[in-house]
Amino acid sequence: MSSTDPAPASTPRGIHGKVIAISIGAALGGFLFGFDSSVINGAVDSIAGEFALSDTATGFAVASALLGCAVGAWFAGGLADKLGRIRVMVASAVVFLLSAVGSGFAFGVWDLIGWRVVGGLAIGAASVIAPAYIAEVAPAAFRGRLGSLQQMAIVLGIFASLLSDEVLAGAAGGASNELWLGLEAWRWMFLTAVIPALIYGGVALTLPESPRYLVERRREKEAAAVLADYTGEPDPEHRIGLIKESLGGDEELTLSDLRGPRFGLQPIVWVGILLSVLQQAVGINVIFYYSTALWQSVGFDESDAFTTSTITSVTNIVMTLVAIALVDKVGRRSLLLTGSIGMTVSLLAMAIAFSQSTLDSAGDAQLDAPWAGIALVAANLFVVFFAVSWGPVVWVLLGEMFPNRLRAAALAVAAAAQWTANFAITLTFPVMAGWGLQIAYGFYTLMAALSFWFVLTKVPETKGIELEDMGKVSAPGASR
Ligand code: GLC
Repeated sequence: MSSTDPAPASTPRGIHGKVIAISIGAALGGFLFGFDSSVINGAVDSIAGEFALSDTATGFAVASALLGCAVGAWFAGGLADKLGRIRVMVASAVVFLLSAVGSGFAFGVWDLIGWRVVGGLAIGAASVIAPAYIAEVAPAAFRGRLGSLQQMAIVLGIFASLLSDEVLAGAAGGASNELWLGLEAWRWMFLTAVIPALIYGGVALTLPESPRYLVERRREKEAAAVLADYTGEPDPEHRIGLIKESLGGDEELTLSDLRGPRFGLQPIVWVGILLSVLQQAVGINVIFYYSTALWQSVGFDESDAFTTSTITSVTNIVMTLVAIALVDKVGRRSLLLTGSIGMTVSLLAMAIAFSQSTLDSAGDAQLDAPWAGIALVAANLFVVFFAVSWGPVVWVLLGEMFPNRLRAAALAVAAAAQWTANFAITLTFPVMAGWGLQIAYGFYTLMAALSFWFVLTKVPETKGIELEDMGKVSAPGASR
């Protein structure tokens, strides 16, 4: 596949420092995403205790924010096209801030769930706006690396919440104990999120608007200035012409523009949805959200939970760096395919190991040598393969692979599908684990194997292709 665009894929001077800076600014939304989706881990036991929750109610309290995320993602696309990318970023920072304060001061469980869902709306919106914005400002040759900053921010956010939960619980001598101002440590865990929300909102206010959005709004002069000053575009006028051409007519885009002849939607929209669903269906968040149970079954006790989660989280961060180094060199497809193979093998090893488990007196799965060691290594290898492939690359692809005209709307639909899948996997894991962990990991193995076939046959390579030419990319093997 080759670009038909005569403009060079990158500036002759190499990458512009400013475009890195504004991409990092937008990626801060990913930091909130990671922070918020895992901050509850340190608080959940105290919440269950304080509000006397059953297991099912606790599961729902944890997963409810994810539903808010799906709704937030769904509406973000339309808002981003109407109000602009920057206003959506600022609005999500404000909503996120309100949710942090509301959750921290929650009176009861419904109040808390309500505020978590409100926070979810902001996270869902941020999860759509960051990849869209970064793809829209990045020069094609660097778009994979810059787009992966979103995943980097997500994993740093997960890590930061792990650390801040641990520090706060440590300072209070337990998450249920009072810390400052008569508020328990678990409340401070939520309140801490005020800091990244303020930073995100403040930084968003300094970012230039996306040139693609500006052209759509006929603000071509401003678009040309952004292209010249920030993205280092060698010929802004030429680029604006191409953007205009790719946007097609003047009519407002609606969700119905995503309709297509096959199964109700355009094929590329289906590719986005399935990439999203498969990214979640391999069970990555089970490792992050339910890590304590996993590590206990291989012989660590609860007091080791912080160490083991830290190891997984650091592995995730380091491998994301590797992905950043590779994504614009080897391409999106090779990374995804390698990741799928590695995830299938490591998940299969976990399923086999857990089929050898015995139940302890509390009815929890226990593994003995050598299976405990195999499960431990396999779980970390799974994170390695996910982090170098499906974690960052799906977000990069969702930001870049849709034609300009459809981008915000299609990305919103795909991200909403991702949050819904995340919710479904999070909620069903305890049930599947009740049948046997080998069943849960067996299911994730199947999904990982399916993900290989899906990439092989349906996912186009987008490396180095200009956004204006995305309408011309086609699935592997398809005739053009
Ligand atoms: C990806 C997923 C997210 C997950 C994270 C883990 O960003 O979208 O759900 O928590 O990877 O690294």
